[in-house]
Amino acid sequence: MAIQRDEDKLAIYRDPAVAARYDERWAGASGQRRESRMRAALERALASFGPAASVLDAPCGAGRLSAWLSERGVRYLGVDAAFPMLVEARRKCAAPLAAGDLARLPLRDGAVDVAVCIRLMHLVREVQLRHAFLRELARVARRGVVVDYLQAESLKVWYANARSAVGLRDHAPSAFTRDAIRSEFEAAGLEVLAFEALRRPNWLSDKVVVVARPRGARSS
Ligand SMILES: C[S@@+](CC[C@H](N)C(=O)[O-])C[C@H]1O[C@@H](n2cnc3c(N)ncnc32)[C@H](O)[C@@H]1O
Repeated sequence: MAIQRDEDKLAIYRDPAVAARYDERWAGASGQRRESRMRAALERALASFGPAASVLDAPCGAGRLSAWLSERGVRYLGVDAAFPMLVEARRKCAAPLAAGDLARLPLRDGAVDVAVCIRLMHLVREVQLRHAFLRELARVARRGVVVDYLQAESLKVWYANARSAVGLRDHAPSAFTRDAIRSEFEAAGLEVLAFEALRRPNWLSDKVVVVARPRGARSS
């Protein structure tokens, strides 16, 4: 089976039916546990920059983090390329939302303190596109950038790779070693400060939240 192109994979979110059902992922006990692990990792990541006055959430999707981030006393802006996802996000919070492409954010340089990008990079197999997204996050964030990745050093990813190698899965997951993630960030002008695994020990965590700062940004 052919691997779906990134553009096609990301376009599914323009379907209102997909957007309307997006939150089902976090329903149920296991979805809620995953959500609270993500929020705990984000809490730790955001704390490393000190108090932030403004946060960009791109892509904000159906507003998974919109209310949670905007209730932290920061100026929140959610950006997403899919209008139906923004419609869902609007139902959850009154904070500013905008349509925009993460590869060309409609923001000036250093417009926000911290830029957050969650649940996107594992969908992007084209290295140039991941670089374009990271460069934009680095450009608009004054102090910090927080992005989640699938990490190769995990049991779940190892198992998915093994299944793909013997033909039991269509393709290997888009997961990276921490060294590869660091190189990718450096190429985009970002210095990695920390990796926040969602579970401990680290090998139980397929997701990792990467905490970085734009090169030249001062520590808090
Ligand atoms: C899996 S959802 C993640 C959304 C949210 N961060 C979350 O954790 O639920 C991926 C989102 O990326 C958006 N997206 C895809 N390509 C984009 C692009 N080039 N610029 C901005 N948003 C994009 C999609 O519309 C979709 O809402």
